Amino acid sequence: MTTDTLTAVDTVETIHPGWVRICHWINAFAVLVMIGSGWQIYNASPLFDFVFPRQIALGNWLAGALLWHFAAMWVLVNNGIVYVTLGIATGRFRRKLFPIRPNEVVADLKAAVTFKLAHDDLSHYNAVQKLLYSGVILAGVVIVLSGLSIWKPVQLQELTALFGGYDTARYVHFLAMAAIVGFLVVHVALALIVPKSLRAMITGR
Ligand code: HEM
Ligand code: HEM
Repeated sequence: MTTDTLTAVDTVETIHPGWVRICHWINAFAVLVMIGSGWQIYNASPLFDFVFPRQIALGNWLAGALLWHFAAMWVLVNNGIVYVTLGIATGRFRRKLFPIRPNEVVADLKAAVTFKLAHDDLSHYNAVQKLLYSGVILAGVVIVLSGLSIWKPVQLQELTALFGGYDTARYVHFLAMAAIVGFLVVHVALALIVPKSLRAMITGR
């Protein structure tokens, strides 16, 4: 077989190209660090009348958690920029995540809860997947922008003002975290229920 045929075979069978898989796992690692350290930061000055158990918070105390948060932030943002740029430039987002039709979301959701949703073509996302994946990418943009606005509220005051000021930006940041955690619970459960989708996100096919 020539290299050309190999490449052709490769393109036909690959479900997730290498850049998607690399970005996905770097992102998963960075997001977990951001959530764990964020919970510890939250505990130092809770917005609501509960705190997160110490065992699942990262960094031991406020200063330690801030170090983790600001270190993983660079990984998260740079990796996110690569993923979103390639997602748009290669047409992957347009092809795989759009259009999202409300009637298809309702139909696929019904099929999903009655376990009638087909998973034989992993290269095609159903309407619920499209909605959840574009939703979590959007939540990622919101959490980064609100994070920046509470990190540098003086230097980035226009951005902070856009969120309605420092205090509101903190709530927005927290709510975006809650949305991402909610997504993750469903997302990881589904990946374990359909193991071949997990294999495809690791090996590409
Ligand atoms: C560029 C990205 C980010 C920046 C610059 C950033 C910055 C910050 C800052 C400065 C704080 C302290 C807020 C305060 O003192 O009240 C904070 C808190 C927090 N962050 Fe982030 N963050 C980013 C991304 C994330 C991500 C991706 C997550 C989780 C998915 C996250 C979760 C949290 C949580 C839960 C808190 C505690 C909420 C609070 O009590 O205000 N952050 N972040
Ligand atoms: C840590 C555990 C995680 C596991 C086991 C996991 C597993 C997977 C799997 C198996 C797929 C392909 C599923 C499919 O065919 O529908 C996938 C896709 C995806 N995951 Fe995750 N994931 C994890 C974390 C995350 C996190 C933290 C995020 C974002 C906050 C995320 C966002 C996405 C997105 C946006 C896609 C679609 C990617 C694309 O097609 O371009 N995942 N994940």
